Amino acid sequence: NVPALKKVYAEYFPMGVAVSPRALKTDEAALITKHFSSMTPENAMKMGPIHPKEHEYFWKDADSIAAFAARTGMKLRGHTLVWHHQTPDWMFTDSKGDTVGRTVLLQRLKEHIFAVAGRYKGKVYAWDVANEVISDRRDEYLRRSPWLRIIGPDFIDSAFTWAHQADPAAQLFYNDYNEISPVKREKIFRLVKGLKDRGIPIHGLGLQAHWAVNEPGRGQLDSTLQRFAQLGVNLQITELDISVYPKEHDARARPAEDSNTAFSAAREQQQREVYGMTFELFRKYRHVITGVTFWNISDRHSWLDDFPVQGRKDYPLLFDAQLQPKKAFSDVIRFA
Ligand code: XIL
Repeated sequence: NVPALKKVYAEYFPMGVAVSPRALKTDEAALITKHFSSMTPENAMKMGPIHPKEHEYFWKDADSIAAFAARTGMKLRGHTLVWHHQTPDWMFTDSKGDTVGRTVLLQRLKEHIFAVAGRYKGKVYAWDVANEVISDRRDEYLRRSPWLRIIGPDFIDSAFTWAHQADPAAQLFYNDYNEISPVKREKIFRLVKGLKDRGIPIHGLGLQAHWAVNEPGRGQLDSTLQRFAQLGVNLQITELDISVYPKEHDARARPAEDSNTAFSAAREQQQREVYGMTFELFRKYRHVITGVTFWNISDRHSWLDDFPVQGRKDYPLLFDAQLQPKKAFSDVIRFA
């Protein structure tokens, strides 16, 4: 019989998983409640889905996830209040179709945060307040999103301040990816440290951890966690998956792979090693890591099936398409 992940890790950190309202109505629900003690709505709380028009909110999906969490005694992570993706066009446009100015956009962001964080006050224990605001370009600090262009960099401070006012008990996180790249790592460090130094309410850093069979290496991950631990805020692994497709720093260099053969014995072995190594390091940093969340439940469906290549099946999780634990599962629990 398969041990429950959340029990094996009970002394370390809560184990979480990203969910859709649909998954909670299938046989995946039993797997979720057996192995996980926390959930994150994969899309339902994002600005586009939850706030489709200026004075119109769509609560149904997020409410159903929050109700499931309450019913099953699971913790709920909120994701996310301000992002450059899945944000409705109306947010940046006025009734004439022109781009809004700073004052209007700040007001809209404030209303959004008070409405969403306010509705889930006491239900969501941690919010990813700002997501991916840092640029991946070597010579650029913040991403040139409409938020930055229209408001300026202080939209980030304001978002945290309002989230804290709307739900003073919620832990507030900054969340980003490519966290293991040494250049981006320092920019993330600078952002979180800046927020802290200015007295902005921030309690944690979320590392998305969209990794692959070829990275991160042990030394790279160890030094990343060591560096971020110096921030003096909680760390959470917020969107973990290990793609079977090696990360390509030059996409043109590698021929396309057939997704039916991608989960080969060799790739499976590499994936087991990366899963084993990453959890070994998560355990090493248990004093700062307060949660580890997988991005999707099983290889039946992953967002990586359509990213970065549409329709390329991936096998990034601990459970296979039949919801059975993969061999990598044993590498994650072996220490116990
Ligand atoms: C993804 C979802 O999993 C997909 O269903 C959706 O189509 C796009 O967004 N970083 C994040 C997540 O912070 O919100 C993204 O989720 C994956 C990358």
